[in-house]
Amino acid sequence: MKKVSFAEFGGPDVLQLIDAEEPHAGPGRIRVAVRAAGVNPVDWRVREGQVLGAHPTELPAGVGLDAAGIVDEIGEGVDGVEVGDRVFGEGSSTYAEFAVLSAWARMPEGLTFEEAAGYPSVVETALRVIREVGVLPGQTLLVSGASGGVGSAVLQIARDRGITVIGTGGASNQDYLRGLGALATTYGEGWTERVRRLGRVDAALDLAGSGVIRELVELTGDPRRVVSIADLGAPVSGVRFSGVAGSVPDALAEAARLIARGKLRIPVEKSYTLAEAAEAHIDSQAGHTRGRRVMVV
Ligand SMILES: NC(=O)c1ccc[n+]([C@@H]2O[C@H](COP(=O)([O-])OP(=O)(O)OC[C@H]3O[C@@H](n4cnc5c(N)ncnc54)[C@H](OP(=O)(O)O)[C@@H]3O)[C@@H](O)[C@H]2O)c1
Repeated sequence: MKKVSFAEFGGPDVLQLIDAEEPHAGPGRIRVAVRAAGVNPVDWRVREGQVLGAHPTELPAGVGLDAAGIVDEIGEGVDGVEVGDRVFGEGSSTYAEFAVLSAWARMPEGLTFEEAAGYPSVVETALRVIREVGVLPGQTLLVSGASGGVGSAVLQIARDRGITVIGTGGASNQDYLRGLGALATTYGEGWTERVRRLGRVDAALDLAGSGVIRELVELTGDPRRVVSIADLGAPVSGVRFSGVAGSVPDALAEAARLIARGKLRIPVEKSYTLAEAAEAHIDSQAGHTRGRRVMVV
C-alpha cells in the first residue's frame, strides 16, 4: 500500500510516499481503508522531532493521527462495529491507504469522508479545554487564535452551551468568526483594548501560542481562568498548559450529536493527495489554517 513516511526528523522534504506493508488490527483496534486523513499541527511537530515526550517516534515513521474511512478489519475483543461501516477516529500513520485506529465512531449522516477526517483531534481538544478552563453558561470566554481547527470547534461548542465567545483572528477571518457566533476582533497592536470594548472576560484560551499569556491573565484577572494548548511557558505565569488528551470516543460521540443538530461544522480549507503531504505541512506550518486541512486518499 501507499503510505507517507519519514526516515529522519526534519523539514517537509523528509516526507516520502513509499510502498509499505499493510498494518493489521491488533486487539481492541480496527483497520480502515482510509478515505481521508486530517492534517493537524502535531503531525509536523512529530516530523520535526519536537514532541518525542508525548509522541515517542521510532524511525522510519508514518504520519497522521486522524482519519475517516471504511472498516475492513476488526481486532480481537472489538464489538459494536462491522466491516463496511463508515467511521472517523484516531490512530496512527493515517496518511496511508490503510491505517489502524484506536478510537472511532460511526460517521455522522451528511458528512463526507473529507469533512469527517477533520474532527477527531480538534473536537477532543476543544471539549477538553472548555472543561479545564471551567467557563459556565452565561459567562464570556476569550479565544486567542479562534479561526483554526481547535478554535472553530471551541467557538461552536461554547456557543451551544450558552457561553458568549470573543475570538481573535486575522483580518480576513473576522466574518468567518462572526459566522460561528463569536464577537470577533483582530490580534496585533491594541488587541487587548479591542477585546475590552467587546465585553468583560471571565475565562480565556490561548490556542495560537502567540505570546499573549500575560495579557490573557490581565484580561481575566486570574491565571487559573486561563488555559493554553500552545505555549509551553504558560505555567511560569501560573497558567495551565493542557497536553493530556481526554476520551476520544466521548469526544466523537459529542461531535456526532452536535453535527446531527446542525451545531458544529468544521470547514475543510484545502485537500491534498498523499503525494502532496509536504505541501500540506508547509501550508499548515504557515499558521493560518481556517478550519482543517485534509489528505484525501
Ligand atoms: N496541547 C494540545 O493538546 C494541543 C492539541 C491540539 C493542538 N495543539 C496546538 O494548538 C495550536 C492550534 O491548533 P490548531 O489545530 O487549531 O491550529 P491551526 O488550525 O493551524 O490554527 C492556527 C490558528 O492560529 C491563528 N493565529 C496565527 N497567528 C496568530 C496570532 N498572532 N494571534 C492569534 N491567532 C493567531 C490563525 O488565525 P488566522 O488564520 O486568522 O491568522 C490560525 O487560524 C497548534 O500550535 C497545535 O500544535 C495543542
